[in-house]
Amino acid sequence: MELLKAIEERRSTRAFLERPVDHDKIETLIRLATQAPSAINLQPYELTIVSGKEKQRLSRLLVKRMRERNISCGPGAKSPLPEYFVERERGLFNVIRPNLPEQTPFQDFINEGSCHFYGAPTAIVITIDQVFSSARLTDIGVLVGYLVMSAHALGLGTCPIGLITAFDDDIKESLNIPDKKKVVIGVAVGYPDPEAPINRSRSDRVPIEDLVKWRE
Ligand SMILES: Cc1cc2nc3c(=O)[nH]c(=O)nc-3n(C[C@H](O)[C@H](O)[C@H](O)COP(=O)(O)O)c2cc1C
Repeated sequence: MELLKAIEERRSTRAFLERPVDHDKIETLIRLATQAPSAINLQPYELTIVSGKEKQRLSRLLVKRMRERNISCGPGAKSPLPEYFVERERGLFNVIRPNLPEQTPFQDFINEGSCHFYGAPTAIVITIDQVFSSARLTDIGVLVGYLVMSAHALGLGTCPIGLITAFDDDIKESLNIPDKKKVVIGVAVGYPDPEAPINRSRSDRVPIEDLVKWRE
C-alpha cells in the first residue's frame, strides 16, 4: 500500500470482527512497528500482546474497575482547556455521535468500549521501564504511530487506548508485568467490522495554519 495514501486513509477502528488475528501477522506487525526510531536506539518499551481467554479476562477486569471507580476518558489536562481545544473535542463527538445507537450515551460508549478494546481480538499493552523520565514517552508515541500505520497496511484496524493507564496496577497484576514498569498506552488490533456504522466516523483535522508558525 502506498504510504501517503495510507496516512490519509487511516482512522481509528471502534468495532471489530470476532475473527482472530494470526500469531504470524501480529509478529509481522510488531516487527514493522519496532522499525520506529527511538532516542539513542534505546527502544525503551515492552509490548504485551493479549488475546484469547486472557484478553477476555483483562477486558472484564477493566470494565469492572472503570464502573467501580467511575473513570472516564479525559484530556489529561492540568487546568481547564482553552476553548479551541474544547472545540476539537466537540468535533470528535460530532463525528462519532451520529454513528451510535440513539440510546447509547457517547461517554459510556467510549469508556466501556475503551476498557474492552472495542471487542478487538488482540490488545497490545505498551509499558516503559520506570527508570526512564517522561522524555522517553516520545519514543512510545513514535512507536504507536508506526504501529497504527503498519496495521492499516496489513488490513488491520487499530484504536490507541489511553484510558487504560488509569488501571496500571490492575493490568500489571493481571498480566504479570513487573512493578518497575508503567503502562503507557494500549492499542486495540483486529479486523474492522465493515458493517459497523461507528467505523464510518471520520475525525477531521484543524487547518495546518492553526498549528504551524513559519519563521523565514
Ligand atoms: C495517546 C492516545 C490515546 C487515545 N486514547 C483513546 C481512548 O482511550 N479511547 C478511544 O476511544 N480512543 C482513544 N484514542 C483515539 C483518538 O480519539 C483518535 O486517535 C482521535 O480522535 C483521532 O481520530 P483518528 O484516530 O480516527 O484519526 C487515543 C489516541 C491517542 C493518540
